[in-house]
Amino acid sequence: EQKTTVQTLLKMKKAGKRIAMMTAYDYPTARLLDEAGLHVLLVGDSLGMVVQGHTTTVTVTLDDIVYHTKMVSRGAQRALVVADMPFLTAHLSETEVIRAAGRLMQDGGAHAVKIEGGSHLAPVVNRLVEAGIPVMGHLGLMPQSVHAIGGFTVQGRTRESAQRMLADAIALQEAGAFAVVLEMVPAEVAGYITKRLRIPTIGIGAGPQCDGQVLVFHDMAGFTDGYIPKHNKRYANLAETILSAARSYVEEVTSGAFPGEAQTVHLKPEEWKDLEP
Ligand code: KIV
Ligand code: NA
Repeated sequence: EQKTTVQTLLKMKKAGKRIAMMTAYDYPTARLLDEAGLHVLLVGDSLGMVVQGHTTTVTVTLDDIVYHTKMVSRGAQRALVVADMPFLTAHLSETEVIRAAGRLMQDGGAHAVKIEGGSHLAPVVNRLVEAGIPVMGHLGLMPQSVHAIGGFTVQGRTRESAQRMLADAIALQEAGAFAVVLEMVPAEVAGYITKRLRIPTIGIGAGPQCDGQVLVFHDMAGFTDGYIPKHNKRYANLAETILSAARSYVEEVTSGAFPGEAQTVHLKPEEWKDLEP
C-alpha cells in the first residue's frame, strides 16, 4: 500500500473516508501501529504524561520530541508521522519557530508538525507551510495551556466559544494547515466545524462526526492506570498482560523454575573435561 501524505488525508475527507490516527513514542509500537493500518502516527507531547510520568505536557522539551520522533519514523513504513511542537516553541521568534519545526523534520524524520493554538498562530502556520513544513492545528482543549485554563476540561460549550473555535479553525485552514485536531469538544460543535472546513478534523473526545479520530496509545491499549479520560476506549488490557507475565517471571526466578533446559546452553562432557578447573 502507498504512503499516507497530507494530500491523501485531504482526499480522504473529500471521499468521506475516516482517518485513523494514534500516538506512538517508540520504534516497536510504531511498527505495529503502522502494520495495523494507522494512517497517521502522532509523536504527541502526551509522552510527558504516559511515558515520562509527569502530570502535564508542559515540561516536555524539543529534544524529547526529537528523540522519540527518530524512533517512530524508523518504525513507520506507510503512516504519516506528525510530531508535536512542545510548549512555547511555536511562540518564539519566527526564526526559532522554523528552526524548532525544522529539527523535528530533519533530525526526527517527521513529515509534519502539530501546533496548539488558534488564529493568533495563523502567521506562524503560513510561514512554516511556505518553508515546506506541513502543519496540523490543534483546537478545543489545548493541554499545554492547562495552567491557564485550570484543568483538562471540555471546551466550546458556549455559543461564543464555539464560534471562536470555528473562526480559529478557518484561520488555520486559510493559513495552510492540512488538518486540525479537536480535543474535548461537544459532538455538535465538532460536527458543525467539520462541515465548514475543507481540511479534515481529527477528534479526541469530539464525537463521531469528525473526519478522523485519534487516541493516546497507552490509554487505548490499557497500559495506563489511574485517571482514564471519558472519551477513551480501552481496546486491550496491556497492564494486566504485563503484570501477569512479570509476576510469573518473579515466581519462576525465585522458585528456580527459570531458566529451564530450553533456555540453557550446555557443554559436551568432553568439552567440560577440558575446561573444568
Ligand atoms: O499529545 C497528544 O497525544 C495529542 C493528542 C491527544 C491529539 O496532542
Ligand atoms: Na499534544
